[in-house]
Amino acid sequence: MCAEALDAVVRGLYGEFSAFRGTGKVADYIPALAEVDPGHFGVVVHTLPGHVTACGDADVLFSIQSISKLFTFTMAFAGRGESIWKRVGKEPSGTAFNSLYQLEAEAGIPRNPFINAGAMVISDMLLADYPDPMAELLAFLHRLTGDESIGYDQHVYQSELEYGMRNASLAYLMKSFGNVQNPVDEVLRFYFKQCSIRMSCRQLAQATQFLANQGMNPLTGRAILTPSQTKRTNALLLTTGLYNEAGDFAFRVGIPAKSGVGGGIAGIIPGQLSVVTWAPGLNTIGNSQLGIDFLEEFTTRTGLSIF
Ligand code: DON
Repeated sequence: MCAEALDAVVRGLYGEFSAFRGTGKVADYIPALAEVDPGHFGVVVHTLPGHVTACGDADVLFSIQSISKLFTFTMAFAGRGESIWKRVGKEPSGTAFNSLYQLEAEAGIPRNPFINAGAMVISDMLLADYPDPMAELLAFLHRLTGDESIGYDQHVYQSELEYGMRNASLAYLMKSFGNVQNPVDEVLRFYFKQCSIRMSCRQLAQATQFLANQGMNPLTGRAILTPSQTKRTNALLLTTGLYNEAGDFAFRVGIPAKSGVGGGIAGIIPGQLSVVTWAPGLNTIGNSQLGIDFLEEFTTRTGLSIF
């Protein structure tokens, strides 16, 4: 599909779906997230040749929440390679992102790196690998986007710390099984900071280009992941990136993607493009309702999915 045709489809769809702004329910289990206006709606499609279609709130910063798990996972996978799979699995969980019971039954080894427990094991690895992993993560995002303004939101971070009882439970449970090595407080603080990073759809679409581009950052020409690691990361995103809705999302949309309770969804069509939506209203599973509906129609009308 040529850039002009793609542009027209995205803009047309954005117009149609704008009528449904506000669908779903803004996350309220972290009080600071409940303050977000549910009417926001942004979309960015960024093709590998570098054509960007940006609609609506494409440049408004929002809390990327669990989309951060994709970037911390990439850092750990790039740094440690296949050894990470001794401490975290690569199977769908079929349970909520903050569920505890599977973790107890499976001896503190999280099913995958994109549920909370898995992301905390990854955080624990990065705490061992870098003296200041948060600074390292932000520097990584700055290199991926060419934008040094990306940072995290203190207010959301404090709110997460204050209401992070379930995450603390997950971390202590894993610590009891020996799958967390650093002090739990340090793991939680780093985990909450990464969730509190603020980015726009445009920045996220740029930051995820390497996953469409066989692992290479198109801005610098440097390899972030090998082509094989990139394939594996995209496979994991397809099977686990939307928690216990990953199957339905693959069925309806058919692309690797990562969601966050801030209402963002970052999707990748390998070899083609990255697509990011932001609409803060969530469905009961915790994924953006309007984002999923938009992406389903996007892959249907463009014929662009991995299937
Ligand atoms: O761990 C939490 O509760 C949040 N900071 C992140 C969760 C999240 O985004 C899960 N997503 N859908």
